[in-house]
Amino acid sequence: MSERTRDEVVASVSDVFARTFGSAPTGVWSAPGRVNLIGEHTDYNGGLCLPIALPQRTYAAVSRRDDGVLRMASAQQDGVVEVALDDISPKQPGGWGSYVAGVLWALRRDGLPVDGLDVVVDSTVPFGAGLSSSAALECAVAAAASDLFDLDLLASTEGRARLAARCVEAENEIAGAPTGGMDQSASLLCDDAAALLLDCRSGETRQVPFDLDASGYVLLVTDTRAEHALVDGQYAARRDACEAAARDLGVETLREIGPAGLDDALGRLGSDEVRRRVRHVVTEIERVTLAVTALEAGDLDEVGRLFDLSHASLRDDYEVSCEELDVATATARSHGALGARMTGGGFGGSCIAIVRAADADAVAAAIAAAFEAEGFTPPVSFTVTASGPADRDR
Ligand code: GLA
Repeated sequence: MSERTRDEVVASVSDVFARTFGSAPTGVWSAPGRVNLIGEHTDYNGGLCLPIALPQRTYAAVSRRDDGVLRMASAQQDGVVEVALDDISPKQPGGWGSYVAGVLWALRRDGLPVDGLDVVVDSTVPFGAGLSSSAALECAVAAAASDLFDLDLLASTEGRARLAARCVEAENEIAGAPTGGMDQSASLLCDDAAALLLDCRSGETRQVPFDLDASGYVLLVTDTRAEHALVDGQYAARRDACEAAARDLGVETLREIGPAGLDDALGRLGSDEVRRRVRHVVTEIERVTLAVTALEAGDLDEVGRLFDLSHASLRDDYEVSCEELDVATATARSHGALGARMTGGGFGGSCIAIVRAADADAVAAAIAAAFEAEGFTPPVSFTVTASGPADRDR
């Protein structure tokens, strides 16, 4: 994990900007990565999810341009990527720059006057850990564009939701990842010390107080560092299966089924695999509602139980876990976690566990030892607190 503070990254990304483009940036904006507490693979089914924003953020030092050109550089890579706004497409500029360019493309398609930017990015969100580094990048750029072109979209929840929707379009249509939208909403809408209850059918949001410290617990994140091929194909296959099942059942999304309609729906589906996919989605949406009730009642044992059920459902019914995630969650549980589950899309990425603050180091060490015994790549564990949304830093 990067130990750099927010002020340090703001200063260093500004320096890189000045060296790259020859003058100081107008400002620095940043946006957080996320972990989803519960409600996995529900967003593209019109369901509920419950993410928190991480202290780890992606930073963008930015100045405005008015000549239809976007220039981008990264503190993590050499070179400047340049593209004319009119040329942005799924093929151009490609690579990491498509997440930045896609945001400008989507804002312009929404009729907003965005005429070009110089951007340098830096990040403390680990890449490939399933903690939404790509959404953090999109949302930092969106926040900068909003301020620099006087769009005033950061000032209200509606404005932030509109920016999140544009970031999702950037990811789906320019970067080519068919993701659901939870990550961008989390990055723009989560509050400090709260989880965001996100209703992906109505678009409604509610802040649910989330402060484990007060009860002597912490949220331990373990990046399994498991790399899996075909991730995009698998994600798209799950999404396609859900959409096809909804069509077969004659509903707009699987959200419409509800716990009361589950048995009937399962009886009408022909394939065992599709039945398991649908069962995961319907039961997972219900678990989000139960988790919110438990959090509001201060019942962390119940939240932990729901974490465990969520993980089993993702592993057995939705089949998006992997050996590393199963070992990490089982080890956390056997070392005293109240509950543990994979978070994010799966096939690798991170697991989360609710553990006593005093046990966090021991649980992390036990997971590391279990990984060593299995011959897995060493994992990286750290605790997180629910942090604030995309904003201007300087
Ligand atoms: C990824 C996607 C999200 C969501 C999760 C699974 O993080 O980007 O939209 O579908 O997987 O819950």
